[in-house]
Amino acid sequence: MDMQAAQYAARLWLQTDAAFGLRDVPLVLPKSTVSGEGKSTGRPGQTVTPLARPAYRSAPQPPPMPARAVATPQAEVRRPVVARTESPLAGSQGADIPRPVKLPPIPDGRLDALEAITDADKPQLLAKLQQQTIAALTPYLSEIATNVVFGDGDPAAKLMFVGEGPGIEEDKSGIPFVGRSGQLLNKMIIAMGLTRQTVYIGNVVKLRAAEPDSDSGRLRDRPPTPAEVALNIPWLHRQIEIIRPQVIVTLGAPALKYLTGTVEGIGQLRGTWMTYRGVPLMPTYHPSFLLRAYTPENRAKVWGDLQQVMTKLGLQPAQQK
Ligand code: URA
Repeated sequence: MDMQAAQYAARLWLQTDAAFGLRDVPLVLPKSTVSGEGKSTGRPGQTVTPLARPAYRSAPQPPPMPARAVATPQAEVRRPVVARTESPLAGSQGADIPRPVKLPPIPDGRLDALEAITDADKPQLLAKLQQQTIAALTPYLSEIATNVVFGDGDPAAKLMFVGEGPGIEEDKSGIPFVGRSGQLLNKMIIAMGLTRQTVYIGNVVKLRAAEPDSDSGRLRDRPPTPAEVALNIPWLHRQIEIIRPQVIVTLGAPALKYLTGTVEGIGQLRGTWMTYRGVPLMPTYHPSFLLRAYTPENRAKVWGDLQQVMTKLGLQPAQQK
């Protein structure tokens, strides 16, 4: 199949029920389980009780970043303090984390003002950063996070997607967005006339965050704590400094919040151009949100956001036959 036919097929597919998992997921979840857009899941009819949050395994102080200039102060991120109960996964560093945790500031300065690097240098620079990231985060691996999920794609990509953090499939494979959300993201990328190999995909956190479900006791993904974000996000900033994409698309509320420092919700900001250190940033919904909140309106919104990105990058929409 040639590229145009693949794009066209992907677009048609995006308009189908199967694309958004309608066959597998209910159309509507009760309000109590859908508190907002994000990675965490809720089962229909189930009210999720907050649990203690097993974080990554305890480890010494994070090693220093091979960092660049940093400076802007950033708002403290407050999360409700949850009562800690013993869990089968106890033994984490979570109990020692003072709350609220102050996140490291978003690095200062435009990316285009940094010392020049060529596209040819980027694979090597990124490979070195990957080694450093793995070395820094390996002490935090646990029964839950068994792999450091660094990123995937073209180190010189013009377009970079940033999600929240790996789930179980990503943890197993060490590659971001390979589960159901990833399959949907792949379709979106193809619909834009691109491929997974020509974009770059990363996450705010590189280690899976999960907690036991209150009913089944099975692990289910949860948003990373501020302490986990603080540990991981410097590596994402450095990744973006090397890739220097022309456009960043944040997938979901956490990626938007942690890359821009905004406190406004994704519902208000998606579809509106923002910037990350001079780079145009388009916030859109996370694919997992689409899988849960399947409506033609949400699909149209995401497709509209991606079309804005295509226009910015000069990508030609495939001709509809
Ligand atoms: N969700 C994310 O935010 N990132 C992944 O890598 C997978 C699912």
